[in-house]
Amino acid sequence: MSDQRELILDAVRAYHREAEAQRGFVPGVTEIWPSGAALDEDDRAALVEAALDLRIAAGKGARRFESEFARRLRRRKAHLTNSGSSANLLALSALTSHLLEDQRLKPGDEVITVAAAFPTTVNPILQNGLVPVFVDVELKTYNTTVDRVAQAIGPRTRAIMVAHALGNPFQATEIAQLAKEHDLFLIEDNCDAVGATYDGRATGSFGDLSTVSFYPAHHLTMGEGGCVLTSDLALARIVESMRDWGRDCWCEPGESDTCLKRFKYQMGTLPAGYDHKYIFSHVGYNLKATDLQAALGLSQLTKLDEFCATRRRNWRRLREGLDGVPWLILPEATERSDPSWFGFVITVDPQAPFSRAELTDHLESRRIGTRRLFAGNLTRHPAYLGKPQRVVGELQNSDLVTEQTFWVGVYPGITEEMADYVVTSVRDFVKGR
Ligand SMILES: Cc1ncc(COP(=O)(O)O)c(C=O)c1O
Repeated sequence: MSDQRELILDAVRAYHREAEAQRGFVPGVTEIWPSGAALDEDDRAALVEAALDLRIAAGKGARRFESEFARRLRRRKAHLTNSGSSANLLALSALTSHLLEDQRLKPGDEVITVAAAFPTTVNPILQNGLVPVFVDVELKTYNTTVDRVAQAIGPRTRAIMVAHALGNPFQATEIAQLAKEHDLFLIEDNCDAVGATYDGRATGSFGDLSTVSFYPAHHLTMGEGGCVLTSDLALARIVESMRDWGRDCWCEPGESDTCLKRFKYQMGTLPAGYDHKYIFSHVGYNLKATDLQAALGLSQLTKLDEFCATRRRNWRRLREGLDGVPWLILPEATERSDPSWFGFVITVDPQAPFSRAELTDHLESRRIGTRRLFAGNLTRHPAYLGKPQRVVGELQNSDLVTEQTFWVGVYPGITEEMADYVVTSVRDFVKGR
């Protein structure tokens, strides 16, 4: 490393330590965020190092992250994207590829999903001219169940696309088995659950495809970013093509002729020998992430176990601290799972002598950030009214979630002192009612 470079990176680390030293927790004054990035001096230095190298587009760093992350999640391939939403869009769009021949999803085919969801778990279904089939979730785990999914399967159903709710795995073994029996694709939206297991196996490794988000609220961050993972090499090729403008060529930027027949293809009605770099076999996008993002991701990846452990510890502290508080429905891990918590979900019993809004107002007044369980019942949002859809069963719990549910943070920036303050604040409020 050149002297200049070393000096700059040392200064960045020193700057980080100084900036962090000014932080302290004052109950009721310091903001307790529901989520946020946990960034240390190595992360800051990694970002600056990538900037010093001017690694501004996707390159070696992105590829290294992809291979390390795929290994980590026990998938053969990972493709970085610019967000978790883009990862969901790519994962589902890949299933419409002509390369899947008879297996491909066609307009009007159905995809089973849950009503109480994040919008971009569902949007790719509509964006691809497919029909979402909404099922309800359970309270306490906030996931749907294999029985509900089984009931929703109809003659046009071709896929299941669901998220592991707030880090809590859905019944992945059973749902993957159901998908197999009915010849359905399974996409796991693992954006909120990296590090979780079900039956001892990592979430994100059950589906044909799975997705991750690297937005700061998530277990690992790149600022913005996401990833599609799969062990199916044919699907991986499709994902890559659709992510990279729809091109047929698979040479990385800066590479040429890795297939040794760059000028020997004849595809579509193009003239023979048309440059393979510019032959497009999918109607694709450009959803790539940059090496700057990957540099941060690689640095964050070394701390994933620690991040997940802290999230679990914070969740347990809240769970134990709030145990027995009347009128609160507290969260529970799905049986046979080890969640990697995204947040701590609380549902206010509809019979409670106080409203959910009164409780969250009280917490917010103490600078404790609260969030809703994303959209609540998505079907009630303006964007989905009148859109093609099928609803199976009553969306009773999704409606309850819309009215009565919120969550508070467990991310690594939450200290024991903060968690205890959250517990005390909830207890104080309920006692006063
Ligand atoms: C379950 C789930 N899926 C997808 C996303 C979208 O990720 P991104 O914000 O990176 O687009 C989120 C965002 O928080 C999410 O919670």
